[in-house]
Amino acid sequence: MEHKKTVVVGVTGGIAAYKSCELVSRLIKKNINTVVVMTKSATEFVSPLTFMTISKNKVITKMFDTPASFDVEHISVAKQADLFVIVPATANIIGKIANGIADDFLSTTVMATKAPVLIAPAMNTNMWQNPIVQKNVSTLKEYGYTFVNPAKGRLACGDVGEGKLADLDDIEQAIEIALCNNKDLLGKKVLVTAGATMEHIDPVRYITNPSSGKMGLCVAKAARNRGADVTLIAGNTEFKDLYGVEVVKVSSALEMEKEVLSRFKECDIVVKSAAVGDYRAKNVAQNKIKKTSDELNVELVKNPDILKGLGNKKENQILVGFCMETENLEQNALKKLEDKNLDMIVANSLMAEGAGFKSDTNIVTIYTKNKEKTQLPLMSKEDVSNVIFDKVLEL
Ligand SMILES: Cc1cc2nc3c(=O)[nH]c(=O)nc-3n(C[C@H](O)[C@H](O)[C@H](O)COP(=O)(O)O)c2cc1C
Repeated sequence: MEHKKTVVVGVTGGIAAYKSCELVSRLIKKNINTVVVMTKSATEFVSPLTFMTISKNKVITKMFDTPASFDVEHISVAKQADLFVIVPATANIIGKIANGIADDFLSTTVMATKAPVLIAPAMNTNMWQNPIVQKNVSTLKEYGYTFVNPAKGRLACGDVGEGKLADLDDIEQAIEIALCNNKDLLGKKVLVTAGATMEHIDPVRYITNPSSGKMGLCVAKAARNRGADVTLIAGNTEFKDLYGVEVVKVSSALEMEKEVLSRFKECDIVVKSAAVGDYRAKNVAQNKIKKTSDELNVELVKNPDILKGLGNKKENQILVGFCMETENLEQNALKKLEDKNLDMIVANSLMAEGAGFKSDTNIVTIYTKNKEKTQLPLMSKEDVSNVIFDKVLEL
């Protein structure tokens, strides 16, 4: 079993310090041991007691506290860390790290650690754009420090511009990437499709299905965490974007086909987990259809089979399809694997408890073109995604 990860969260003296409380809470919910180190200025913004309660750990605020043990504390914290994150990072801490200054517990521990360091700056726009700050950021990037750049928006001081702490979702995702030690997809281009397509019958109505896009989202995350360069073509999904992934939003099957085909040649791996509609309206009404007659017939025509099209065009790409069935799962899965020239098919039954649309878990069986069958137990969609890439790499 993987050991429980330890993240040291450095909090410095900016107004965004309160947002770190939420971040620490999220890390705790993910079962990550979280140790908070606060600068003296940070304690002016948020009480150490808040962080202590959320992290269920002692919070370190001083360099020269009476030691609780004979460990040299900054060295032991530095060694314990799988990852160091500084959220929010002031101009001051960035300047200090970039210039080798170690004059308090946080700056000293960052200097002593061999763990990767992730920095999320937050400051007034003029401070962020100051060439000295920018030079310090460049220096740190050259040394291998990772940044989650500040966003644009309305700052606490009333100014509007760049400098706002990045979205916590993005910081959380950057932490997930940094904590993933397995980078076996580095240099690979991965294309993933997710979610439901929407086929309009008039400007306000459409035919769709209940796919939430969760499976595809997890597949894209797993590939990204393992180092791949990922593009996610997303139909109607419950998410808007994904940190570290190029997300292309589409609506209809024809739009999805266009976006997938235009990228297929450069891809190494394609995982098609979108629920693409098999049919679309032959004629889309230009105006809202009126409720005049008792019956309404909408004529449908077949959509292109995107997966089959890719199977025909395939050169060196590994092509993975999904199939969701309500009956004869194995038979249907093997037929699709063969007919569509796939390398692998991930089959799930809509009838099994804990599988399918919208749930966070899935029960799948993976069939490969080498006639290998792997039946997986009930698993999180994240774990299923990782098994898919393990199998892809075996192929
Ligand atoms: C109300 C207030 C808000 C501040 N917000 C920020 C900020 O968002 N970013 C920043 O770099 N400095 C900010 N500062 C200035 C820092 O607190 C100051 O540079 C301090 O020396 C930082 O110390 P530290 O890096 O050790 O935490 C703020 C100061 C005050 C009084």
